[in-house]
Amino acid sequence: MSKTINLTLKVWRQEGPDVKGRIETIEAKDVPVECSFLEMLDIVNERLTLANKDPIAFDHDCREGICGMCGAVVNGRPHGPMKGTTLCQLHMRHFTDGDTVVIEPWRSRAFKIIRDLAVDRGALDHVIQAGGYISVNTGSAPEANSMAVPQRNAELAFDAAACIGCGACVAACPNGSAMLFVGAKVSHLALLPQGRPEAARRALSMVGKMDALGFGNCGNHKECEAVCPKQVSIVNIARLNREYLKAGLLSWEE
Ligand code: SF4
Ligand code: FES
Repeated sequence: MSKTINLTLKVWRQEGPDVKGRIETIEAKDVPVECSFLEMLDIVNERLTLANKDPIAFDHDCREGICGMCGAVVNGRPHGPMKGTTLCQLHMRHFTDGDTVVIEPWRSRAFKIIRDLAVDRGALDHVIQAGGYISVNTGSAPEANSMAVPQRNAELAFDAAACIGCGACVAACPNGSAMLFVGAKVSHLALLPQGRPEAARRALSMVGKMDALGFGNCGNHKECEAVCPKQVSIVNIARLNREYLKAGLLSWEE
């Protein structure tokens, strides 16, 4: 028989974006330790629904750590206590019977709360729309050796491309900065030959959009790197700053 634990949840409840929220205490009894954090919320929601109460609203999709949809602040840490782990991949065996677990939504000026733990992260999509792509139609997949990419660059680009756009970095940053997210997107493309022709325009445009949408600037707190479930390095912020500076100088020369 599977081991179960009893938890006291302190969950942020908020009926809508412009309604005052509050912390609600919910007892989560007999939670199997092998279930994930989101499955624990599913169990709690089923019981709330059967008791004619509103279930807790939260975002999710793949539940495999790849889509970036899930996320909540668990005991003060975005995505919970396990390093390099999304909320959907966090398992209840990392909690202890009798624990009190505080669950809150991402809080940042650029992310409006929709309901309970669900927040609008559309601002990150708008930053991507400002330049996080290559606009050249490259046709079908080219022969792998036709465009040589140094191994080191390929690895760095791959590490940056691991960003799933969850927004935990923004939620953890005291300035509400999206620099790790933008740094990852700009780096991923700037490191590859296909991304170079539009690198300057991309850096200027994405940083401009990030500022316009109310994200703050980087203050080197490094909280973003500490909570990133894909362990994206702040080296990408340094690369973004270099790309932005170079782009600024180029546009000044023109
Ligand atoms: S950099 Fe990390 S924390 Fe930020 S959006 Fe990407 S995956 Fe999430
Ligand atoms: S639900 Fe897709 S990353 Fe968690």
